[in-house]
Amino acid sequence: MQNTEFDRVIRRIATILSVVIITLSFIAASTGILLSFYYEPAAGRAYQSLKMISEQVPYGWLFRKAHNIAGNAVIAIALVQIVVMFLGRRYRKSWLAAWISGILFTLMAIGLSWTAMILSWDQEGFWRFSIELGTIEAIPLIGSQLREILTGGAISTLTIQRLYTIHSYILSLAAIIISVVHLLSTLWQEKQMQREEVNTEVSNSNSQQLIQGAGTSLAES
Ligand code: HEM
Repeated sequence: MQNTEFDRVIRRIATILSVVIITLSFIAASTGILLSFYYEPAAGRAYQSLKMISEQVPYGWLFRKAHNIAGNAVIAIALVQIVVMFLGRRYRKSWLAAWISGILFTLMAIGLSWTAMILSWDQEGFWRFSIELGTIEAIPLIGSQLREILTGGAISTLTIQRLYTIHSYILSLAAIIISVVHLLSTLWQEKQMQREEVNTEVSNSNSQQLIQGAGTSLAES
């Protein structure tokens, strides 16, 4: 298969973006771990502990800012990556692996942002979460069970603890694993492209030699 210049550029952009994604994920995960040293997942206490992190803990404000920026930026980059992957060719295993892991990562990143909504226990987060719970409850068949699982009844300390567990253990671990898979699959497809280019060059030079050989034997006869 012939690789066009466009293919090459798209593939390189996809690899660069997957490096950015993994870097931002590691920044978010490491600053999240630092926040967890002081963060208290309880109604009322959550807000106070984050305020204390920002105002009293040395460089606490920096880690909080870095976590927020990395956590939100990774969603934007993952969405750009989906567009980049869409523009590329999709009939290779490596491309498919990158495409699926890219979509899964975007879902994880959105999930991380969604579960963080109530973690700060401020007015905005509380009311946004209440509205979204209404939407969840409206899902046919499983809506009310899902609401019960997420909140544990009314929005309370139990809700924060559940969402904190989903955010900091389940989704963040899954996001890190998927970002590694995504980077590996973009590197794999770059390697595959280089191999294809070498094969094309070899077959081009072979056919040139054949043509030259045929020309010489015709001239001799
Ligand atoms: C790949 C890993 C992670 C990502 C992408 C991520 C993403 C996010 C996002 C988008 C927010 C909302 C920021 C905002 O207010 O706009 C947030 C908040 C938060 N995250 Fe994470 N997170 C990750 C890992 C973790 C881990 C491992 C922990 C703890 C062990 C953690 C603890 C928190 C806490 C306590 C907040 C609330 C902080 C605040 O409101 O300032 N996160 N995270």
